[in-house]
Amino acid sequence: MVSQRRNLPLLATPETCSGRTYIVTGANSGIGLEAARHLASLGAGKVILGVRNLVAGEAAKRDIDESAGTAGTDVIQVWQVDLCSYDSVRAFVKRAADELDRIDAVIENAGLTLSVREMAEGHVKPLTVNVLSTFLMAVLLLPVMREKAKKVEGVVPRIVVVGSTYGFEATCKADWEGIKEDPIKGMDDEGMAPLKTYALTKLMEAFAIRHLARELVPVEKTGVIVNLICPGLCITNLVRSTPQDFKDMMHQMYAAVGRTAEDGSRTLLHGAVAGPESHGKLLHSCEDGEPDVPDWVKDDTTMQKRTWEAIANELETAEPGCVARMLDCA
Ligand SMILES: NC(=O)c1ccc[n+]([C@@H]2O[C@H](COP(=O)([O-])OP(=O)(O)OC[C@H]3O[C@@H](n4cnc5c(N)ncnc54)[C@H](OP(=O)(O)O)[C@@H]3O)[C@@H](O)[C@H]2O)c1
Repeated sequence: MVSQRRNLPLLATPETCSGRTYIVTGANSGIGLEAARHLASLGAGKVILGVRNLVAGEAAKRDIDESAGTAGTDVIQVWQVDLCSYDSVRAFVKRAADELDRIDAVIENAGLTLSVREMAEGHVKPLTVNVLSTFLMAVLLLPVMREKAKKVEGVVPRIVVVGSTYGFEATCKADWEGIKEDPIKGMDDEGMAPLKTYALTKLMEAFAIRHLARELVPVEKTGVIVNLICPGLCITNLVRSTPQDFKDMMHQMYAAVGRTAEDGSRTLLHGAVAGPESHGKLLHSCEDGEPDVPDWVKDDTTMQKRTWEAIANELETAEPGCVARMLDCA
């Protein structure tokens, strides 16, 4: 079992966050909830909790308001978004475009792992939620963020995708070998064990974001920093829908090396304040550099491009022209 650093530094400060506007998806629980709480405590002007379940979202708002001293204000807002539905993602982005004056960072944290094969938008759910809808949101929001940033002095928007180095494990690498020619088809195949798809989605994110970031340079021109973070192994309820023996194994690992959700959330804040040097990179443990990204991911630009193109094709089918609009200024 690999050890990991705990008690991470909080790199976001009142100076970097005060009065700013943030979106955090999957913010009703776990790491996303703690990231939103930090942002509120640091004086953010608005923190949008993007949640699929409004009741859970309102409970999270009450919890944050109580601890961050934002009760009675509209700093914390609960907005519905279900990443199982492209229409829901579109509606969420439209609302952000219509209602927010500025968007300083979007933390795309919502994610899931399942042990049964369930479908959404024609794909297995972890693929739809962790990858396809996550990138659809990024692609639709990016031009919106860019335009809003032009109107407010000093805004350098960030899109932070919450990934995981779990996708670099040897078993996932071996599974990827079997599907890498067409990862979407491979993951959707009925023969693919549902529990394997989570790690594969995280690997897919790591490949795709590197190519996407290369399409979006220089940051001074495209205006938006896109990075990926790994929160490390954190004690959350992410594995709630997995078999008992898997849960037991995870609980042993949590006890040995797990970070609290609050500690892990500091990595999300790192992504939200990191500079242009983080563009296309995977940030880990609030540190500079990418010691945790293996060369077979870092250096394989062909695979990065192929993975991005597979995702982009799907997004173009869902929303024709969306990728071209995003790339318009690059
Ligand atoms: N925990 C770890 O060790 C670890 C390690 C590496 C990466 N991560 C990543 O960290 C992120 C947060 O996970 P967590 O550990 O904090 O687990 P979590 O508490 O289960 O948080 C996941 C969040 O995603 C939301 N979500 C799931 N499906 C959704 C959908 N269709 N639409 C909108 N929201 C949806 C969940 O909402 P509901 O409450 O409604 O289900 C929940 O708020 C995930 O992306 C995960 O892959 C976690």
